[in-house]
Amino acid sequence: MKLLEPITLGAIYLKNRMVMAPMTRSRADNEGNVVPLMSLYYQQRASAGLIISEGLNISKQAIGMPFTPGLYTNEHIKGWTEITKTVHEAGGKIIAQLWHNGRAAHSANKNGERPVAPSAIRIENQKAYTGFGWSEFETPDELTHAEVKQVIADYKQSAINALEAGFDGVELHAAFGYLPNQFLSESSNKRTDEYGGSIEDRSRFILEVMKELIAITGPDRAGIKLSPSILYHGMFDENPVELYAYLLKELNKLPIAYVHLMQPMFPIDEFAQYPKDVVEAFGDLIHKPLIINAGYTRDTAEQIVKDGKAQLVSFGALFLANPDLPERFRVNADLNKPDPEKMYAGGDEKGYTDYPFLK
Ligand SMILES: Cc1cc2nc3c(=O)[nH]c(=O)nc-3n(C[C@H](O)[C@H](O)[C@H](O)COP(=O)(O)O)c2cc1C
Repeated sequence: MKLLEPITLGAIYLKNRMVMAPMTRSRADNEGNVVPLMSLYYQQRASAGLIISEGLNISKQAIGMPFTPGLYTNEHIKGWTEITKTVHEAGGKIIAQLWHNGRAAHSANKNGERPVAPSAIRIENQKAYTGFGWSEFETPDELTHAEVKQVIADYKQSAINALEAGFDGVELHAAFGYLPNQFLSESSNKRTDEYGGSIEDRSRFILEVMKELIAITGPDRAGIKLSPSILYHGMFDENPVELYAYLLKELNKLPIAYVHLMQPMFPIDEFAQYPKDVVEAFGDLIHKPLIINAGYTRDTAEQIVKDGKAQLVSFGALFLANPDLPERFRVNADLNKPDPEKMYAGGDEKGYTDYPFLK
């Protein structure tokens, strides 16, 4: 299978083209420190060509959900050093996904600290998950210009921390309505400084962050995850094609390692301006290796890689439930089903490290 052939992704040699998609599993402790079980979880999945870590909060301000790990204290770095070492010893590669939730957060998960965002606009028609159940989203505080600069500096520091912890690279989480996505989208960004307004100005935050990340990692070790056709967390644009075409054109100019693109995951029929197939809409505009994601199976993944429309495919739920997914694809074995109840549940190994390997 083409999917099982090696590839060099930017500066990183991978033994196959199957990527474990970033997945928040909410197993860290209250301080965002990793626990030993997390090492086992990642080690079990090291047969992936590349693992992208669950979203790692780049600062205290970045936190959105309970029990999510951080990458901003010495203790965090120490914890992740163990995990990257375990993955490398098992023959795998692992990239840190850098995460800032922005307004997709709740003060109940942040010791009372209020969420921040490009503009003071609340997420409507969706609930926030807190350690105490579901709640309305709060109106975030608008980041001042100086605070925007500080967030960019926090991303930079998190890349320094990622390298110190032994990660092979970093990925900016700019998808699914989190902070970078909030800068991009006209529904969440009404700023009047150079970070809001035109498409160029709304793209500026992401491009500045990517430049800072690359300055730390060196060329070809920093990637970006985007979801142009996902309206989750109140993302909405009149002209998403023009927006993402501009952003992708500018990203092409930077020595980024890859673009990680999500297909739409929710129905978008009523929004005619949103492409139903992001590879058809944007594939030709991307001059970097493309990791395609969302809903791919053994056959559809193999086909898109064979067609040369994507170089790699990332799998979320399938890797969650099948630690040996590449081997299962190789022999075309049956797959374990993921248990949705245990996806985020804090605590023990159930639905985490107890999914069986092939006999
Ligand atoms: C439990 C769970 C947690 C997730 N957490 C993250 C995350 O932290 N960062 C991210 O970019 N995507 C996250 N995702 C989305 C996945 O990376 C992926 O885009 C999505 O599952 C679609 O791929 P799939 O159809 O192969 O599962 C998560 C998905 C799941 C199932």
